[in-house]
Amino acid sequence: MSDEELQYLQLLVGRRLGLFLRTHDLSRLRRASQERATRIGLKPVAYVQFLSTLLPEAEREWQELASLLTIHETYFFRDQGQLALLRRQVLPELVRARAQQRRLRLWSAGCSTGEEAYTLGILLSEVLPELSRWDVRIVGSDLSSRAVALASQGSYGSWSFRLMEAGYQERYFTRHGDAWQVVDWLRAITHFQTGNLVLDPLPNPALQLEELDLILCRNVLIYLDRALIPDLAQRFFAALRPGGYLVTGHAELPVESRGGFSVTVHADSVLFRRPAPGEEAGIRRVGAPGGVTQRPGLTAAAAPAEGRPLPTGKAPVLPPRLPTPGARPRTTPAPREPGGAVGGSRRPGTRPAPTAGGTESDSLRIRTLLRLGSHREALVVAQDGIRTGGPRGDLLYLAGRASANLGEHRQAQEYCRQAIVLEPYYAPAHGLLGEIADVSGDRVEARAHLRRAIYVQPEFIAGYLGLAGLHEDEGDRERAHRHRETARRLLRALPPGAVVEPYYELTAQRLLEQLEQFCVPPPPVASLPHTRVATR
Ligand SMILES: C[S@@+](CC[C@H](N)C(=O)[O-])C[C@H]1O[C@@H](n2cnc3c(N)ncnc32)[C@H](O)[C@@H]1O
Repeated sequence: MSDEELQYLQLLVGRRLGLFLRTHDLSRLRRASQERATRIGLKPVAYVQFLSTLLPEAEREWQELASLLTIHETYFFRDQGQLALLRRQVLPELVRARAQQRRLRLWSAGCSTGEEAYTLGILLSEVLPELSRWDVRIVGSDLSSRAVALASQGSYGSWSFRLMEAGYQERYFTRHGDAWQVVDWLRAITHFQTGNLVLDPLPNPALQLEELDLILCRNVLIYLDRALIPDLAQRFFAALRPGGYLVTGHAELPVESRGGFSVTVHADSVLFRRPAPGEEAGIRRVGAPGGVTQRPGLTAAAAPAEGRPLPTGKAPVLPPRLPTPGARPRTTPAPREPGGAVGGSRRPGTRPAPTAGGTESDSLRIRTLLRLGSHREALVVAQDGIRTGGPRGDLLYLAGRASANLGEHRQAQEYCRQAIVLEPYYAPAHGLLGEIADVSGDRVEARAHLRRAIYVQPEFIAGYLGLAGLHEDEGDRERAHRHRETARRLLRALPPGAVVEPYYELTAQRLLEQLEQFCVPPPPVASLPHTRVATR
């Protein structure tokens, strides 16, 4: 397929699927379209022509292509903080509001293989013990027909349960060999269907996507063309009943695109609510020190204070607040980068490191220099590696780390952004942006970056530690404790001698030991003394 044909296909994918493919995604598009063209016996050019027709077969083919182009990463109880907010506030409020009709409609939009939709059902059953006497319908929809077929089967392997609390699996699933089947009552209220968020009408009475109480659309909007998002937000608004909620992934719906929604910024999530008649749409921030405040510019970029080196590299003070990707807990042993630290490993499908020029031994050398406190020299080696071998996510990140340690935050941010453009799933770069925002006092921005880091790499230990530090600073010991517990669980799954990015001086075991001193459950709120543990 020529470059022109590929660009045309990229354009079609944008129009038909709404997917925003960046330049570095084009090789994936080329591979996927070639694979599909071969499968149905067409030459690549004819395949593109076929896709541009309105034939029903072409419609089905779009489904197949979409399955190859989209990322289906998901698992039960993804994003505990957000779910805690649903359980504590959103679902009880919806249950109260609908007590007379005894009817609830929830939608997991972009549900992938269904874990999110079933998680919603589990949460609801905890909030609403009388669920069986209510008219409850949870819909999961996704662009990919393959994902929807798997969701409808409701049978999952252990990887889907990787961050689920103990007890739930046995309560809501029955074991069949290696697989776990969703219990019948939960399957009966959960329905799956294919759907395209960009093209399909909304509200959609035929699919019962109207008068909804809650729309969960998480980790989907990041794949869409940003220009389409305000329109989609408006259509979500129209599909909700007054008082209904929209919850997206962190920072996925810019507050400026909120349309008629009321926005409440909680520590764990932003909630978009369709105001009830007579209510005014506004923006509120809840849980900030000093109570509820108005905050207009929520997505303003961090303006870091230059000159303050980050407390990293040398002798980090616990609890550390830095990001670490990498370790595959439970089922797979933690990957150890040739550079020497656990973390920074790439997801399958992302760009591999070149073999010539900036080599993996460069990253080992840079990390050693950082450990020794030779930040300037580390920066020079990283820059040389980039010059001779071409840009590479880990080298750009390490150049950023060295710059940050030298107090050159703007330069560090620039390196991180370049790393992310090249490798969007490179968690350390997201995490370092979070640290810089944190040091410059922008907690909202810091939180968004750190959450992004653990989104792209759910086993990213230092991301949890960073978030724990932020919550600790806000006096929220309970949430801080929860994040540290997750970090602890992940650390325990690592080989004791592993070095965890970016704590180059510590082994996983040593880090765990230090962390255990901090993992004391918070006392009941009433007896909480108003002291804060020093976090740095
Ligand atoms: C990373 S998964 C997110 C799954 C789940 N919401 C979660 O957060 O765990 C993203 C899903 O969005 C779906 N998706 C992407 N573009 C879509 C579109 N235009 N319409 C519907 N689904 C879409 C993909 O097929 C994929 O399954």
